[in-house]
Amino acid sequence: MKKLLLSLAVSTALITPHFAQDDFKPLEGKRYITVDSDASKQIKKQFGKDAAIIDDSYGVSLIHIEANKITELSEFMHRNFRRCGGFIVHEEIEEGIQTLRTNGQKRWANAHQFMDYQIDQEDIVKPMIQEVEQENIANTIVDLSKFHNRYYKSQSGVDAAYSIRDSWVELGKNREDFKVEVVKHSGFPQPSIIATLEGSEHSDEIVIIGGHLDSINGQWGAAKRRAPGADDNASGIATISEIIRVAMKHNYKPKRTIKFMGYAAEEVGLVGSKHIANDYKRNNKKVVGVIQLDMTNYQGDETDILFMDDYTNKAQNEFLGSLIDQYIGVSWGYSRCGYGCSDHASWHRAGYPASMPHEATMDGGNPHIHSTRDTISQSGSHAKHAAKFAKLGLAFMAELGK
Ligand code: BES
Ligand code: ZN
Repeated sequence: MKKLLLSLAVSTALITPHFAQDDFKPLEGKRYITVDSDASKQIKKQFGKDAAIIDDSYGVSLIHIEANKITELSEFMHRNFRRCGGFIVHEEIEEGIQTLRTNGQKRWANAHQFMDYQIDQEDIVKPMIQEVEQENIANTIVDLSKFHNRYYKSQSGVDAAYSIRDSWVELGKNREDFKVEVVKHSGFPQPSIIATLEGSEHSDEIVIIGGHLDSINGQWGAAKRRAPGADDNASGIATISEIIRVAMKHNYKPKRTIKFMGYAAEEVGLVGSKHIANDYKRNNKKVVGVIQLDMTNYQGDETDILFMDDYTNKAQNEFLGSLIDQYIGVSWGYSRCGYGCSDHASWHRAGYPASMPHEATMDGGNPHIHSTRDTISQSGSHAKHAAKFAKLGLAFMAELGK
């Protein structure tokens, strides 16, 4: 048997020398691996001077290890941690560092408890919640759906962004501590819009309530095609506008800073939010909580509000569930996108606590998105479902903004 294998290997080497050469290349030199920190100490103990821990952050370690020890490491991991693999091999240190950072940030963003999540702002939250009017949300959805599309490269997509800017300026016109900025992105004309309600005490700590302002119909020729995007995502933007309206009407003054964000270019790869979240990370901004309102007005399931459990923060998701129980009294549960399906993923990847309260389960949601059929009539031409999300957003704002 051994002989047969050997002769097979030799003949393969003769026929396909490149392949065979790679295949039989002795493992020389050193490699970088990333592995969960809980395993790194034991790896060090086991492999001694053959393994050096170079860096350790957010629960992930970067280890420099002799290449010829990698097979043994694989067996070791399997035996001790019941993990297949359980580590990633990197040829270059840069790749290892990058993985350390992004894996670590994601893990941190998922599992770390960023705040102590006390619910004690009833006197402020209750009256604000009562003020929410679904008709306002419905009207905004209809207005935004009138733009031919809100595509990130088309003029109507730019006009839509400025119309959101104008409406938010109008809502906060009597407040010195409220301002609205247009955030330009390179490579396409649609800007993101950010409204800031400045905190009175810890203004460096930021609570974010966001949603994407663009819309799309299909992929090719999308710049010309009609894309009303009523549910995806005029509903989220309209929900945010109602939160701002109520906050202003109640003369709400947070201690932390609240930012309302309408992101450009989500539909083409979370582009606007990625720019913004990475910029915040680079500048070490303290973001204490993020919610993403993307599709809030199509009730596709019996359960009212579904939290996506991937690319989000566990403790903050539970906190939001408690806010629903305490203040809104509708049903809630969990679902999963299975990929970074909206702008919360940009914040998550940057290491911040994000949540995405959604209108339905992943499978039960609006089947008409990304088409000309995404109009408010699919949701009964009212915004009763979105109103629940406006209430949740107000509760989140006041209980985190204190
Ligand atoms: N609103 C959707 C995401 C979504 C769809 C969430 C259905 C839950 C149910 C979002 O606008 C979108 O379309 N995202 C893209 C991904 C992005 C990375 C381009 C998508 O899902 O294809
Ligand atoms: Zn979409």
